[in-house]
Amino acid sequence: MRIVVLTGAGISAESGLRTFRAGDGLWEEHRLEDVATPEAYASDPSLVHRFYNARRSATSQAQPNAAHHALAALQQQHDLTLVTQNVDDLHERAGSTQLIHMHGELAQALCASCGHRWSSPAEMDVTTTCPSCRKATARPDIVWFGEMPYHMENIWKALENAEIFAAIGTSGQVYPAAGFVQHARRNGAHCIELNIDPTAVSRDFHEHIIGPATETVPEWVKEL
Ligand code: OAD
Repeated sequence: MRIVVLTGAGISAESGLRTFRAGDGLWEEHRLEDVATPEAYASDPSLVHRFYNARRSATSQAQPNAAHHALAALQQQHDLTLVTQNVDDLHERAGSTQLIHMHGELAQALCASCGHRWSSPAEMDVTTTCPSCRKATARPDIVWFGEMPYHMENIWKALENAEIFAAIGTSGQVYPAAGFVQHARRNGAHCIELNIDPTAVSRDFHEHIIGPATETVPEWVKEL
């Protein structure tokens, strides 16, 4: 079966990583305009680095949970395109391969001057230099608001061919990812939302499975 799964911060919540929009979420504590835009990096790169250093540290202490493991197992049995908005590496550490990180990865650094990419050190600051051009313009390889998500052409194509589209632990508030359900549905996919709560785009799905991802995802994978 051809399946596309989109994951969001909710799948990593039970691994101890904070989501963005919960009552105690990251965007309650930080203004996204201050840490997750190219303008923020231009005006206060130290603050931006501190924010992502903290995310990198939290990720290194977290472990993949049963939902990450179930999706890795699903990939063994089906033609699965796994697309994540998450910048953590918990899918990879659970064994998923051919993963699409549409919003970038904490594990990667990107040179704001020459575009070179390399493995990020655990901590970056304004003195971190690009190994290629030697300028001190290292930034996290994260897609910020106002930037184009990665691998969009491949994702739209996979959605057009999908028989099943599932969105797991994402609030449906950030486009283009929030529009994947409509695209998949228009092209004939059966669309399922797995979330602990209803979301901004719940009405676009054919089916809803409500509950914590560590319970609902393994169960759903077993049924497939
Ligand atoms: P959000 O924080 O917006 O949404 C998390 C979703 O996960 C919510 O719908 C929760 O109800 C759900 N959730 C929480 N705990 C859960 C659990 N245990 N099981 C199942 N669902 C659970 O995070 P995203 O939708 O991933 O972008 O946010 C999308 C993008 O906005 C992020 O990639 C990030 C952010 O700004 C950038 O930084 C570019």
